[in-house]
Amino acid sequence: MKTLAQKILDAHLVSGRAQAGEQVEIKMDQTLTQDATGTMAYMQLEAMGVDQVKTELSVSYVDHNTLQSGYMNADDHAYLQSVAAKHGVYFSKAGNGICHQLHLERFAKPGKTLIGSDSHTPTGGAMAMIAIGAGGLDVAKAMAGIPYRIPYPKIVEVRLTGELGHGVSAKDIILELLRLQSVKGGVGRIYEYTGPGVKTLSVYQRATITNMGAELGATTSVFPSDEITREFLKRQQREQDYVPLEADEGAVYDATIEIDLSALKPAAACPNSPDNIQAVEALQGKKVDQVAIGSCTNSGYEDLMKVAAILKGRKIAENVSLVISPGSRQVMRKLIQNGAFATFVDAGARILECTCGPCIGMGQSPKSEGVSLRTFNRNFYGRSGTLSAEVYLVSPETAAASAITGVFTDPTTLDYEDTFAPEPSYVDDSLIYAPSKQPEQVEVQFGPNIKPLPINESLPTSFAKRVVIKLEDNITTDHIAPAGAKVLPYRSNIEKLSTFVFENNKKDFYKVCAEHGGGVIVAGENYGQGSSREHAALAPMYLGVKAVVAKSFARIHLANLINFGIIPFVFADKADYDAIDDLDELVFEDVHGLETGADYAIYNKTKARRIPVRAQISPADFAILKAGGALNYIRNAQKT
Ligand code: F3S
Repeated sequence: MKTLAQKILDAHLVSGRAQAGEQVEIKMDQTLTQDATGTMAYMQLEAMGVDQVKTELSVSYVDHNTLQSGYMNADDHAYLQSVAAKHGVYFSKAGNGICHQLHLERFAKPGKTLIGSDSHTPTGGAMAMIAIGAGGLDVAKAMAGIPYRIPYPKIVEVRLTGELGHGVSAKDIILELLRLQSVKGGVGRIYEYTGPGVKTLSVYQRATITNMGAELGATTSVFPSDEITREFLKRQQREQDYVPLEADEGAVYDATIEIDLSALKPAAACPNSPDNIQAVEALQGKKVDQVAIGSCTNSGYEDLMKVAAILKGRKIAENVSLVISPGSRQVMRKLIQNGAFATFVDAGARILECTCGPCIGMGQSPKSEGVSLRTFNRNFYGRSGTLSAEVYLVSPETAAASAITGVFTDPTTLDYEDTFAPEPSYVDDSLIYAPSKQPEQVEVQFGPNIKPLPINESLPTSFAKRVVIKLEDNITTDHIAPAGAKVLPYRSNIEKLSTFVFENNKKDFYKVCAEHGGGVIVAGENYGQGSSREHAALAPMYLGVKAVVAKSFARIHLANLINFGIIPFVFADKADYDAIDDLDELVFEDVHGLETGADYAIYNKTKARRIPVRAQISPADFAILKAGGALNYIRNAQKT
């Protein structure tokens, strides 16, 4: 008797025991990359000497860094297009859509595994896939045919009953789960959706939920494949990809959470965390300055049709700027055809291209101390580009209703038509390019923004380093390696990018590292939560960071640290966090002894005190750390 997640995982198991917590290796059928992480992933693939990818399907999307105010992003796009053509990867051009929306529409297949260098890759779980977000190097390894290693997750059932009421949205379901579970609640877990409520949700609604499962810190989330899935695939003109899939009757879960959809009300994630949940009712009347609708969470056909239904015959409030970014060209084309687009324009919305846009800080930063309502998935401090702004995460319905009134508005109080004609079947893949049939003739384009990959030294036996920064709980990858239009163009130029590391926490962090010959980072709980960006490990590695000592780590970032040769230590006693201060000198004796799993302590020379710690690493992880990271490890293995 198996759960759906177990069925898919076990069908892809390469090694290890299918038991929660056991290290297992999983074969990955598909990969996806986006441009902000993709340049590094393909440089790593090339450094591994792989001619053609070994997966069933690999796709490279350009959706993040699409502003072209200099040559840098354009250089990256040219590199990505040519390297995809050469190595057997499909390429989706800028403007074609957001990676997760497009992957769902065009490539996701029930029962398959997917690994993507973007933390919202679990969106594919809406199509009964095991879809996991990871660092670019892990995706490069999957493209090279190397299985993905994870601790076998616990499977948590989320049993849905009832039906969503007028003005209540799939976004409100996942916000309720975030309220119940917090941003740390999903670590080491897969959330599997069951119950009669599942049949009331479309694939788009399921995708909103699996997308934001990433905010729970979960390995992934998964829905069954049923008649609703088949209908979606039929509209995408690929019904042949449908297979029915669900859990066995009587499957046993590690835990069960019940949510009655009929009892839900519109909710908002308040600044600055996706689990800081309040009912919209309680926020009603608060003045709003900006409304942004789009992102990989809420930019599908149905989301935007609901927005159009609310905006129809109405105008946005004088104090509000409303921006809308459709998730894909396909969605945009359908809305043009059925008149919804005209409704947006008539209401006073500003239309953005089909990309991540403001979600990754590419334009549309709110005004100072502004209140911004966004249908996105993250509201971490500073991500919008305005440090003093308040960003709230809401459903498309709450966003549209508030854009009209100019204040926080509960959409259940508004009268609008929330049923519409079935989605038309329209497909246009003309901006998706198949890999070259003559790869040997393709020349990969390296513009001046593409700098060589930094290569780490192997791990010294012992070292002493200063604490170059001491941080609080819940530090995100946005804190470590910020995004935004100023920084993103340097994702393929680590020397330049490293000058922005921790720029909002400690100005000139890179200078402190240079002064002390690198160092050690000390942090609180859930260090590295948020996006999958490996630059949050790669740039500190470049600056000479050798270890991070934290109370706990987020899953993807922990893997990225190991991949780049930085030792992740956790305090054996969390109270010892207070026994270390900025610029203390920490001595790490015989770190190679960690291989044996023996007890280990750091010596704080400044305070003359020993601090017991644990390294969260398996023997296989240790071999990677010893080599100075996964790339060195793979290259060494190829030499022998
Ligand atoms: Fe893009 Fe934001 Fe999603 S950056 S991939 S729309 S989380």
